[in-house]
Amino acid sequence: MKIDSPRIASFQPPVRTLMGPGPSDVPPRVLAAMARPTIGHLDPAFVGMMDELKSLLRYAFQTDNELTFPVSAPGSVGMETCFVNLVSPGDKVVVCINGVFGQRMAENVRRCGGVPVIVEDPWGAPVDPAKVEEAFAANPDAALFAFVHAETSTGALSDAATLAAIARRYGALTIMDCVTSLGGVPVLLDQWGIDAAYSGSQKCLSSTPGLSPVSFSPAAVERIRARKSPCPSWFQDLGLVLGYWSGAKRTYHHTAPVNPLYGLHESLVMLAEEGLENAWQRHHNNHLRLRAGLEALGLKFVVREDARLPQLNTVWVPEGVDEAQVRSRLLNEFSIEIGAGLGALAGRVWRIGLMGHSSRPANIVLVLAALETVIRG
Ligand SMILES: Cc1ncc(COP(=O)(O)O)c(C=O)c1O
Repeated sequence: MKIDSPRIASFQPPVRTLMGPGPSDVPPRVLAAMARPTIGHLDPAFVGMMDELKSLLRYAFQTDNELTFPVSAPGSVGMETCFVNLVSPGDKVVVCINGVFGQRMAENVRRCGGVPVIVEDPWGAPVDPAKVEEAFAANPDAALFAFVHAETSTGALSDAATLAAIARRYGALTIMDCVTSLGGVPVLLDQWGIDAAYSGSQKCLSSTPGLSPVSFSPAAVERIRARKSPCPSWFQDLGLVLGYWSGAKRTYHHTAPVNPLYGLHESLVMLAEEGLENAWQRHHNNHLRLRAGLEALGLKFVVREDARLPQLNTVWVPEGVDEAQVRSRLLNEFSIEIGAGLGALAGRVWRIGLMGHSSRPANIVLVLAALETVIRG
């Protein structure tokens, strides 16, 4: 049997303005960095770049953690890396669910053979510290605590410092999802006492999707070293990955995604040039601009004001408006992508992202004008 060669031309993606829950717009500097020549992943020049990446990530995460590097896979694998290394069969883990990504954390605990103790809050609300306190009081033997800092499915920001302090009082280590928060709002791993954190390259860092920065505290490393059963994932076993990402002599573990790592490096250089505080302020200012325009259109926010993510604005779809049609008209007529609702909020909300390079006044003017045209006809 012979299979004829398919007549397919080079893929030319349309130019979009990305204002959904990620990926965000990727700046030309980052795309240009990714087009530089591919070199070997053990080339000394590449290893030097990897070391710079680790320093840049320590700055972004505000941590001195030695074990800080990007996992060669998307945020979901960063999430799994934290759970498969830290949770052993039988471990109790207090897990907060206030949206889709908290549900995934609980599922990770189950798949590692752990026992999740669920703390539930309504979708759109931040995690309630009083409920976390109650869960620990009833389960003082819980070894770990896990929560999502910025719940992308709802746009709610939780109080990480307060939550991690409760876990610490009960002697539990804290795992934090900061996929959507890193670079957009303060993420202060060391100050807050976070033991394991994972993020994503495609949100407020504005690099391309597919990489997951992670960081582990010395206490988390000690727990991983003390495991009695081997980590169930070969690829994510930190003991093995580290031979590649640290030490004087690097050994082959997997072939790193060389060019995407150039992109992440460039986006982190840009973040360092702007300065973290300035990046947080920019996200905040642009959120206020967008908010004023959305409210002028009569749209109402899902999340209460003091827990809103500036980089992800979730609003209720007005009565009588076809939410999917609005999104498809924005895409087809204005080349703007905004997000739909997920899970319990599917069909009921729009999620408008102002993440990283997408957080610019020009994008806000564009999305507001387009929304007004489409909604008001
Ligand atoms: C809070 C949160 N956690 C985890 C993920 C998973 O990341 P990825 O889609 O890169 O696997 C996402 C992605 O949107 C997210 O928003």
